Amino acid sequence: MKYYEQHLLKIVKFMKRYEKLIECHLSDFFTENLWEKCLPVGLRLHIEECGSDVVHLIEHFDASNIDNSSDLSEFLLEASQLRLENCPNVMKRSEFSKVVNIEGNDSSKPLESKFMAIKKWHEVEMLTSTICWVSANQNSIIVDAGSGKGYLSLYLAMNHNLPVLAIEGSQINHKQAKVHGDLIRKKLNKSSSLIQYVSRKIDEDTKLQQLVKENFPDLCVSDNIVLTTLHGCGSLTDTILKSFVNVTEARCLCVVPCCYHLSSEPMTGYHSFTPNSRMLAQHVVERVKIKPTRYNLTSPSLFYRALLQIILHQAGMPEARIGRGAPLDNFLTYAKWGLTRVNLEIPSDDTLEEVYHEYRESEWKFNVFQSLRVQIAPVIEAAIILDKLLYLQQSNICTKLEVIQIFDPVVSPRSWAIVAVK
Ligand SMILES: C[S@@+](CC[C@H](N)C(=O)[O-])C[C@H]1O[C@@H](n2cnc3c(N)ncnc32)[C@H](O)[C@@H]1O
Repeated sequence: MKYYEQHLLKIVKFMKRYEKLIECHLSDFFTENLWEKCLPVGLRLHIEECGSDVVHLIEHFDASNIDNSSDLSEFLLEASQLRLENCPNVMKRSEFSKVVNIEGNDSSKPLESKFMAIKKWHEVEMLTSTICWVSANQNSIIVDAGSGKGYLSLYLAMNHNLPVLAIEGSQINHKQAKVHGDLIRKKLNKSSSLIQYVSRKIDEDTKLQQLVKENFPDLCVSDNIVLTTLHGCGSLTDTILKSFVNVTEARCLCVVPCCYHLSSEPMTGYHSFTPNSRMLAQHVVERVKIKPTRYNLTSPSLFYRALLQIILHQAGMPEARIGRGAPLDNFLTYAKWGLTRVNLEIPSDDTLEEVYHEYRESEWKFNVFQSLRVQIAPVIEAAIILDKLLYLQQSNICTKLEVIQIFDPVVSPRSWAIVAVK
């Protein structure tokens, strides 16, 4: 069990070493000369020697097949080794699929996915299997915290006959979940539902056990609660972890965290995550690799934004935000769109062209820089998950504690579940 702590401590060291690379804002790449300021000298010089091919090398790096030792391969190897799937005692998808006896990579089941998108279907099916595995199918009641539109709750109740308390903080989602639940019940010709929907924002004062009793007064399983949250965003996951520790009746836990950038506090004292590092942790290396047109770093959007920053800087508006949706046909149209959004006078076409031509040669460096940052993303994600895991471990209440990659990260990027039993 020391493994988790040791792995986290290694990550903390790595993050300190590459702090500048993590903490910078990519849009300041040219105005702040991030290339020189943020990359360790050895790494930078090596990349400059290799030239633009390095982007391809980074994106297709294979830790099992390194043919030379350089600052770059050392960086990539370390980043790879520090990912959560390479932490000892972590359950990989392939192992987990065997444990729960499910085809983990099958994200295209046509029949059952009729009522939800493929991504949601994959998540609901895998998390349901995890919950059934963890609770060992004993008589229990599921508390689905942040149940959203209620897909998981519905599936647990309809397909596994489990009573579910679906607690949702947004009124809109809560209402939609109820309407959707009624619709599905009618379609499937089921007269009663095992779900109770509650509209409520969960915080540390929420008495979950009391809510269970109020909503299921006739059920005798209210002292055997399984706490779950599917993509519990912001502080919701942390609140549920604390409830698991503090509520005696909560026997099992099965959470999949997401939106790391929306929470601020670490759960243990190993490391404080800055907003920038949390934001970077949101990137998904697998998607960048597999869906190049949508996620590829070579999309000009980030490069154009860094060029526009030069103009904003000169106009004394470095903090200006242009928002999303800019046209990406060329820098001229992008810049005009952006400058209009922030009510700045638009320079002549020649001036804009000049900016573009001056920095065009450095576009590959910009892409390499961002590729390196993206390699760090899963390392920070690992640290965020391990922080939560260590919180549970230190509570000394768990007879079982696992971290498992339950989703295919290409289908569902926030793919790690923390599972515990008292
Ligand atoms: C990313 S969504 C996931 C929804 C659902 N679990 C799913 O996967 O389909 C997170 C949901 O949690 C809800 N939520 C966030 N914080 C909450 C809180 N403190 N209490 C209750 N609901 C919360 C949000 O309104 C949102 O519907």
